[in-house]
Amino acid sequence: MCGIVGYVGHRDAADVVVEGLRRLEYRGYDSAGIALVHDGHVVARKRAGKLANLDKALADDPLPPAGTGIGHTRWATHGPPTDRNAHPHLGAGGRVAVVHNGIIENFARLRADLERDGHELRSDTDTEVAAHLLEAAVEAGSDLTEAMQQVCRRLEGAFTLVAIDGADPDRVVAARRNSPLVVGVGEGESFLASDVAAFIEHTRDAIELGQDQVVTISRDGVEVTDVDGRPAEAGSYRPYHVDWDLSAAEKGGFDWFMRKEIHEQPAAITASMLGRHDAQGALQLDELRISEEELREVDKIILVGCGTANYASMVAKYAIEHWTRIPCEVELAHEFRYRDPILTRATLVVAISQSGETADTLMAIRHARQQRAKVLAICNTNGSTIPRESDAVIYTHAGPEIGVASTKGFMTQLVACYLLGLYLAQVRGTKYGDEIAQIVGELEQMPAYVQRLLDASEQVHRLAEELSTARSVLFLGRHTGFPIALEGALKLKELAYIHAEGFAAGELKHGPIALVEDRLPVFCVVPPPGRDQLHDKMVSGIQEVRARGARTIVLAEDGDEEVAPYADDLIRLPRVPTLLQPMVAVVPLQLFACELATRMGHDVDQPRNLAKSVTVE
Ligand code: G6P
Repeated sequence: MCGIVGYVGHRDAADVVVEGLRRLEYRGYDSAGIALVHDGHVVARKRAGKLANLDKALADDPLPPAGTGIGHTRWATHGPPTDRNAHPHLGAGGRVAVVHNGIIENFARLRADLERDGHELRSDTDTEVAAHLLEAAVEAGSDLTEAMQQVCRRLEGAFTLVAIDGADPDRVVAARRNSPLVVGVGEGESFLASDVAAFIEHTRDAIELGQDQVVTISRDGVEVTDVDGRPAEAGSYRPYHVDWDLSAAEKGGFDWFMRKEIHEQPAAITASMLGRHDAQGALQLDELRISEEELREVDKIILVGCGTANYASMVAKYAIEHWTRIPCEVELAHEFRYRDPILTRATLVVAISQSGETADTLMAIRHARQQRAKVLAICNTNGSTIPRESDAVIYTHAGPEIGVASTKGFMTQLVACYLLGLYLAQVRGTKYGDEIAQIVGELEQMPAYVQRLLDASEQVHRLAEELSTARSVLFLGRHTGFPIALEGALKLKELAYIHAEGFAAGELKHGPIALVEDRLPVFCVVPPPGRDQLHDKMVSGIQEVRARGARTIVLAEDGDEEVAPYADDLIRLPRVPTLLQPMVAVVPLQLFACELATRMGHDVDQPRNLAKSVTVE
């Protein structure tokens, strides 16, 4: 969703801001704009559509040199994506310019008040009221920092606001409430952005801000206050060093970030495992800030997340319940708090979020903490809001994920869930040390197994070629293969925009089988043989769809010959324990969705209508 950049320093602000916006494109947007302070005035350009439209506007009518500026990529909420509604928005006299992410919930009332006072608002957005209010405050004699503090006290909702004042070239001022914002600290220059990717080529020193803080950046540094103007307390914001560099935010020879990220999965798994067990395989999650005693008291786990993270939660339930015997519930974050869930001090809520900024998940954990439950975040983004507001965090260390459709994010969420499950089993004594060490040993093999599947991408690519005109694809799985079927279908919906559905194979005969028609492609994730009768039941399901004309694309482990006669296409998976099979089974499905969407001519990294981090509820 919306991307924000602010800059003050010795470089050309237009270059820094536009390049920053380019690095935030992945978040999803439908218009873009920029404003600079030049010679006592604000100058701005904005255009509906992709950044190329703004680039063209800037080429036709270049901006003057400036050292202070802000920029924005907008994902429309209030008003359609037009030039007029694009950010920045200017105050009544054009002195103050503002960009905004989030929703100002009381904007209608504020707008009515402004109009009564003679203000003429030019757009349909909620943002423009903030521009008018800020400008009125600086016109009345406040500096931009004080103006921001005053205005924030009047706003309700979730927002990041970043503003410049044409009469004050030395500062950019921002505020955040329930919406992402990080600060970059350079030499004689400072940055603001929705995430560090926007300024990583200039500095890796960042500050994560607390809730309801106002930050003023200048060439000399950074000042943080609360909305009442009091200096922010030590510890309420946190300087940190970003542990990846620009190359991680570039495509490195791949056509898409998504394809690159699929191929980075072996390294991402290794990074997620690093330092988390000793030579004997005993787990050590040093960064977990919940004591062993508290973990022993947990009597229920609720896993919350959205989209792909929800499917990681579903996989986690199978593993954690089996290893620890603690009952686990899986809940979509946006449904969680509205159904009045039963939470006690002995409930552990596990919030899974790649970005750490998903508003639905954030609201879920706030509710959980109000009810005194413990919250543990599994997150890929250092400095983001969800881990900051949780009692504990396991970072997934996958490096930046830029493709909107999550791949290495999902893979490392699985790793973190397995590590958490094993750690709980270790602390509570529900598994012997050698059993834990054995599973850890299996996890250690995963990078090689995933690499083998990546090396065999050609088979999946051929399949994508053959199926490039499919209008509907089904995915079947049982046990941990069920969430993988759902994830395979989600990837296709996100990227190829075709009807795709995942089902628990056992549910097939209760309805979905009616969808099966001649030549319908059906992916079937087959559990390893030997786990009760799961395998045989899955094979029966495959026979049932095939008998009705489906084209079966079967994912089955090496040596599973029983299923071969019923597979029109057979994708071989390395032999792994049933609970870990999702880590290998998901890979061909990711490759398939990426390749099919590429062949269909779609933008794989920025699918239509989607945003990478959904920062509004
Ligand atoms: C958006 C993305 C999905 C992602 C979901 C959860 O909807 O398009 O790909 O799975 O958000 O994101 P999170 O950052 O919380 O994991």
